[in-house]
Amino acid sequence: MDEKMYDRTSDDMGNIVGMEHVNFLVPNQQMATDFYAGGLGFTRDPYMMVDTDNMWINVGQQQFHLPTRGTQVLRGHVGLVVPDLEGVKQRLTTLRESGKLQDTSFTCSADNGYVSATCPWGNQFRIYQAGTYGNMSLGIPYVEFDVEPGTAAGIGQFYMQVMKAPYTLTQDINGGVARVRVGRDQELVFRETSAPLPDYDGHHIAVYVANFSGPHKFLCERGLITQESDQHQYRFEDIVHPETGKVLFKIEHEVRSLFHPMYGREMVNRNPSQNLRAYSRGGDVLVVA
Ligand SMILES: [Fe+2]
Repeated sequence: MDEKMYDRTSDDMGNIVGMEHVNFLVPNQQMATDFYAGGLGFTRDPYMMVDTDNMWINVGQQQFHLPTRGTQVLRGHVGLVVPDLEGVKQRLTTLRESGKLQDTSFTCSADNGYVSATCPWGNQFRIYQAGTYGNMSLGIPYVEFDVEPGTAAGIGQFYMQVMKAPYTLTQDINGGVARVRVGRDQELVFRETSAPLPDYDGHHIAVYVANFSGPHKFLCERGLITQESDQHQYRFEDIVHPETGKVLFKIEHEVRSLFHPMYGREMVNRNPSQNLRAYSRGGDVLVVA
């Protein structure tokens, strides 16, 4: 009997089973709405954080959390996947032509295989057509951080040994690139650069882990837990070399167990191509993979 051979390792998952949200402060909710909902076409969460203090923006099964109390800028960029890249391009162009975000850091341009966009306060995004990152049709497939030369391998080791999440290490023209698997079709990327890096300003990411206590034990023993939030969540921000303890990078992780009440929450996503002139009855909801 002929038996088909499968690469079983390609479906292996490490301890981090999902990267759920990226959080940065924004100073102005109205402009954030124009960029994230109007331009990028994402959906304001209708159930949570509905007043002017904060705003959750749903992107498939991931989110941006945007508290309205300052400005934070991620050192690197965020990857995004959408089902209709052409639609994003058109909406961002319309937004630019409207002049609403004039005199801010807002930019948009078509690059090789993706659309680049910068939010009014300097956060950078690359938007790809669905199909580029596995089965993801709408979501955040990766967050890429710029890191100091000579740190990528140690950062990878931290995720492997402490968080129990596998990584790969490659080289590009500027140095090492560590890619950590943090969910189905999701990665954290740490790319070495010799360019000067701004100080860490406190933006954060949230991840779900299957083994919750193992990373906590390591971090707790070294005094690296920054918040014991509740039974189902803790936070840390220093990524250290697992052997030497040297701090290699800072990025706050909100670490959640699979018992966290938000785990697996169904996010509401709308079809941003709906409009008055070409309204499709029954077509408001975007079903995402
Ligand atoms: Fe958070």
